[in-house]
Amino acid sequence: MIPTHVAIIMDGNGRWAKMRGKERIYGHYEGTESVRACCEYAVEAGVRWLSLFAFSEENWARPEAEVTELMHLMAKSILNERPTFEKNNIRFIVVGNRSRLSEALNRDIDGAMAETAANTGLSLVIFLSYSGRWDIEQAAERWAADGAPEGRYGDYLATAGIPDPDLLIRTSGEQRISNFLLWQCAYTEFYFTPVLWPDFRKAEFRKALEDYASRQRRFGKTGDQITQETNDSK
Ligand code: IPE
Ligand code: IPE
Ligand code: MG
Repeated sequence: MIPTHVAIIMDGNGRWAKMRGKERIYGHYEGTESVRACCEYAVEAGVRWLSLFAFSEENWARPEAEVTELMHLMAKSILNERPTFEKNNIRFIVVGNRSRLSEALNRDIDGAMAETAANTGLSLVIFLSYSGRWDIEQAAERWAADGAPEGRYGDYLATAGIPDPDLLIRTSGEQRISNFLLWQCAYTEFYFTPVLWPDFRKAEFRKALEDYASRQRRFGKTGDQITQETNDSK
């Protein structure tokens, strides 16, 4: 089975650069090549949604120079990739606390989102200034203000309209969620790899999808029930 929605915590850029005696930002630049490779492979493999954790709410606490460089890199990547989005029928979406982003960056994001809104291929979701707790809080406020409609909490999350991830990949050997999609990962399969993000390209992505395909998702049921359901649907 190919997962409909793959989410990735792209980690390890700094260490990748450090190992080469370079500045951390060098790793972030190299990481954008992995983004391109993973988008291409997602399209090839038939993944419909690719979510990438690019910058967390906590990442604002990094040294100012690194934050500035990362924001600059984001603006530059949007500019560079816009023709590729069009060519490959990719829908570009940014999710996060956009009030913390600069006006110029927000304008670029709005432009790219509007331009690609009607594209029907891969939906590429970039999580920028995002954190799971921020999302749960902002959703709770708006949900309560609307009179707490039953069964509709998910419509108030910043990810409304996006299916929950089937597979969450984290690179760089860390085995934690770091405030990413807390509500949405209730039944997501996790895949951890020691590979650093700048080295995570097509072959590594394929390995993750193969691993996912070997798993049985049970959603609280028994394995026998799932086998029965699979046979019934054949
Ligand atoms: C991930 O790489 C990119 C961001 C969090 C912006 P890091 O910058 O966290 O790299 P390491 O974890 O320090 O190696
Ligand atoms: C998680 O990586 C956030 C992103 C990849 C954007 P971090 O490097 O910020 O996570 P911690 O601090 O190691 O948990
Ligand atoms: Mg890190």
